[in-house]
Amino acid sequence: MYFPEYRARRLRRNENIRRMVRETHLRVEDLIYPLFSAFGKGVRKEIPSMPGIYQQSIEHIVQECREVRAEGIPAVILFGLPETKDPMGQDAYSETGIIQETIRAIKKELPDLTVITDVCLCEYTDHGHCGVIRDGDVDNDETLRLLAAEALSHARAGADIVAPSDMMDGRVAAIREILDANGFSHIPVMSYAVKYASAYYGPFRDAADSTPQFGDRRSYQMDPANRREAFREAALDVQECADFLMVKPALAYLDILRDLKERYDLPLVAYNVSGEYSMIKAASQAGWIDHDRVMMETLVGMKRAGADLIITYHAREAARLLRG
Ligand code: PBG
Ligand code: ZN
Repeated sequence: MYFPEYRARRLRRNENIRRMVRETHLRVEDLIYPLFSAFGKGVRKEIPSMPGIYQQSIEHIVQECREVRAEGIPAVILFGLPETKDPMGQDAYSETGIIQETIRAIKKELPDLTVITDVCLCEYTDHGHCGVIRDGDVDNDETLRLLAAEALSHARAGADIVAPSDMMDGRVAAIREILDANGFSHIPVMSYAVKYASAYYGPFRDAADSTPQFGDRRSYQMDPANRREAFREAALDVQECADFLMVKPALAYLDILRDLKERYDLPLVAYNVSGEYSMIKAASQAGWIDHDRVMMETLVGMKRAGADLIITYHAREAARLLRG
């Protein structure tokens, strides 16, 4: 295959030929849409750093879920803004917590929309860390008990999939065990297996009001420089019976997505995080990039790297373009 006999441009001559040889396809089935459910009534507040994304109370969440469902997006992932926060993050595992109420309201109207819940404590603790604090750091094993209780209460409220994002050691096993012991052996765990300590979460922490009040998350989230550590984290979660593996963030970690795709057979999820979304919004608002083209190129790049599913704030915009 040498020039001039071989000419690569022959397969790029027109759109039909390009369609025929296209290797990667983004589908609406690949998309998961995040929602921020806020305590109260009549709340619908746009997040300044995330245009088009809102903190909203349950009736607005249900309304947006109807639209999401009509657009063909199969799943949402829920984050909660509770009425009150405390050192133990009690709303997270309360029967009447913000997420538990939200799940029930969605499932009542839209039983066939898949509801995934983020399982973590940082949205519910007054100090903003992902677990309970002892001697100035997050106590791993104490936190496991609360995360397991949180996952169980989500399942009881009707969640279809639970997604732990805390990065405590042993949490997938702890959650699997409590679900199985309580009649929820059919509920999958989508593990945020490989989650880096990333500055790309900045806008999300405004949205979820979950910025740590002291220190940072580097004693539990991963160092962005590490690749082999990602394999150890994924291996642990596979042993603990995770049903999905996730890499987060996505854009600066496409190599890790590719690596995990080659090493593990579980469905692989990319989290296209808040900062990645905000950068595209800001640059397109400045008139510097073509919003829709950059968005689709970014999402297809994540699929090409190995993602089977993508959690993205762009899900609704992408679904609209995919419909054509
Ligand atoms: C909670 C959680 C975070 C995100 C998802 N779940 C924030 C964090 O760990 O600080 C980030 C999502 C995003 O940036 O879009 N642990
Ligand atoms: Zn957290």
